[in-house]
Amino acid sequence: MVTQAREAIILVGGMGTRLRPLTVHRAKPLLPVAGVPCIEHQLANLAAAGISHVVLATSYRAETFTEVLGDGSALGLRLDYVSEDEPLGTGGAIRNAAALLESGPHDAVVVLNGDVLSGHDLSTQVAMHIQRRADLTLHLTVVDDARAFGCVPTDGSGRVLAFLEKMPQPVSNQVNAGCYVFRRAVIDAIPTGRVVSVERETFPALLQADAVVLGYVEQAYWLDLGTPAALVAGSRDLVLGRMRSAALPGPVGEALVLPGARVAADAVVEAGSCVGPGASVGPGAQVLGSVLLEGAQVHAGAVLRDSIVGAGAVIGAGCVLKDAVIGDGAEVGADNELLGGIRVWCGARIGPAVVRFSSDR
Ligand code: GDD
Ligand code: MG
Repeated sequence: MVTQAREAIILVGGMGTRLRPLTVHRAKPLLPVAGVPCIEHQLANLAAAGISHVVLATSYRAETFTEVLGDGSALGLRLDYVSEDEPLGTGGAIRNAAALLESGPHDAVVVLNGDVLSGHDLSTQVAMHIQRRADLTLHLTVVDDARAFGCVPTDGSGRVLAFLEKMPQPVSNQVNAGCYVFRRAVIDAIPTGRVVSVERETFPALLQADAVVLGYVEQAYWLDLGTPAALVAGSRDLVLGRMRSAALPGPVGEALVLPGARVAADAVVEAGSCVGPGASVGPGAQVLGSVLLEGAQVHAGAVLRDSIVGAGAVIGAGCVLKDAVIGDGAEVGADNELLGGIRVWCGARIGPAVVRFSSDR
């Protein structure tokens, strides 16, 4: 009897619309989170759980995945890629990727949404699936507001009672955490060649057919990285050690400063900030709970809180940023205040502020 899953599929085809402009030049799972593409945290977790072969189901910006992740050997995994000409939806993508799986019909296959940072115990989820001979075992977690998620009530034995994707008035706060263990045969039964949503079609149909669909409830660290605020929070939590990952490229601490980055001696970089390779922080600047992607420059005296600065973007001297999202290559002139979730598009130029803002510094 098989006691472990050996193969996984990661869904990485979404357009990352809510993360624009950060996703203009790269797909969401390749955005750096604590210094490495966020998918590397998932890949490290899969490898630790005994997975050896991963198929990436790509669509949007498919070519960027191979460039960054290669054949996976650096991560201790064998990686394969499939690409959809037109996005096939979550179910269509899983079915399409399954053509490259080597598992038998009753083997357990792990499937992940490619934009989730999760500290749950995958091995225990797989063990539950195998012990109870399930068709499908979903990791479920509890959130304050379930409206943006799949709401998944269960009974006392862990059987899933319903799968209710994105309800305006969720019946419970227990939600789909985007990590599934499938019996391979269930994947093979998904129709080919058309758009299928597992959330809206496959899961409800399995429940209708009385298949064994289980909920593995674990409230470990869990975050959907679908928005800039979540991406910044995820990076910060990894740097500070609130979420553990074997892929973290340095020790846990107040800040992660990657090789080739320059931080002026009197600059303050803390509260879980990450300074990417080749990025620089000028004299007297403060970078707090923020992310600087590769080659970003923060000039003297600028103050950044909970913000993300894209590759090669420049933040002028004396600027104040709070919850700001700056696209790759943008230039923000001196003394601007960018607050409240503002997004500056890739390559945009903002001239220096005429009036000096002296409050709130
Ligand atoms: N290959 C491929 N093709 N991948 C896709 C496609 C597609 O057509 N559509 C979506 N994906 C990928 C996305 O890249 C992402 O990794 C994953 O599937 C889920 O899509 P999202 O667009 O991020 O969905 P969501 O966050 O609104 O909701 C999903 O995740 C929640 C947990 O984070 C659902 O599964 C919810 O039920 C769940 O609660
Ligand atoms: Mg998502």
